Amino acid sequence: MATNEAKGSLLSSTVTLSNSMTIPQIQLGLYMMSGREAKQSVHWALQAGYRGFDCAQVYRNEREAGNTIREFLCSDENTEGLRRADVFYTTKLASNSTSYAAVRRSVKNSVNASGLGYVDLFLLHSPYGGKDARLTSWKALEDAVGDGEVKMIGVSNYGVLHIEELMASNPRIKPVINQIEVHPFNTQTSIRHVCAEHNIMVEAYAPLVRAMRMKHPTVLELSKKYSRSPAQLLVKWSLQHGMVTLPKSTHRERLIENADIGSFEISQEDIRTMDALDEKLVTDWDPTDAQ
Ligand SMILES: NC(=O)c1ccc[n+]([C@@H]2O[C@H](COP(=O)([O-])OP(=O)(O)OC[C@H]3O[C@@H](n4cnc5c(N)ncnc54)[C@H](OP(=O)(O)O)[C@@H]3O)[C@@H](O)[C@H]2O)c1
Repeated sequence: MATNEAKGSLLSSTVTLSNSMTIPQIQLGLYMMSGREAKQSVHWALQAGYRGFDCAQVYRNEREAGNTIREFLCSDENTEGLRRADVFYTTKLASNSTSYAAVRRSVKNSVNASGLGYVDLFLLHSPYGGKDARLTSWKALEDAVGDGEVKMIGVSNYGVLHIEELMASNPRIKPVINQIEVHPFNTQTSIRHVCAEHNIMVEAYAPLVRAMRMKHPTVLELSKKYSRSPAQLLVKWSLQHGMVTLPKSTHRERLIENADIGSFEISQEDIRTMDALDEKLVTDWDPTDAQ
């Protein structure tokens, strides 16, 4: 069943990056999904109208995610005639390395595992490994773009100093994205500020606070006020801050619900109330101040 007619779905919404390329503003996160779950969730998401998927080498589901996208494009279910270029696939380097050759090999392995011919966005997953590894890994990503393996490149979990270090190195290709944990309980104002200064789009990971604050009184009160679920309120908050957002779900009805947020707007006053919930909550890891 095609469900992309879901009322108020924002799945066709895109944003334009500093390189003038566009990406879907809501993408499905694939963290903590087994290969089987990733196959099922990516399939449901494609049926529902998702066109962006956030994978990583460490998620160990690149093969299943990529193959599910490829199979969908070739199947009878693809009634819209979608092509490879209509789907946006991200993956991330597990470990930065001072070996340029190791990073190039690792990127090629990811491209091959996905079976998609190229990766739309390749990210350095974290700043761990030290300055030399960060800058060598970045150079390898730049060359992967030059060789057509990757369309665009960015970083993840980069703090203010890592962004400034990369920009000070005069990179041939500037990062288009910094993917960091952002939600009302960790608003990351200083990292978002430095990204804005350098025209780097912020991708919000854990936008649902990993389901840890669904019953917070303010979230429940605003949910009731807007007649939306806590998850919808949280995803909408990240969009109204102009970010790309990556809600994850292994449930079909939830992944539809999370994108069905077109027909309401949070008032600026309520956005400020949500911003004030900041408690610098880290739901998983926080490499943003790594040396
Ligand atoms: N770069 C990084 O270091 C990094 C780190 C973390 C995450 N990420 C990316 O960001 C994505 C999202 O982050 P995340 O997966 O950590 O957390 P999240 O999206 O904030 O939350 C996912 C949790 O919320 C639940 N959920 C989903 N929709 C719901 C709904 N409508 N109602 C109630 N509960 C709901 C999910 O359960 P079910 O699955 O059972 O529905 C899951 O437990 C990841 O999948 C990954 O792609 C990147």
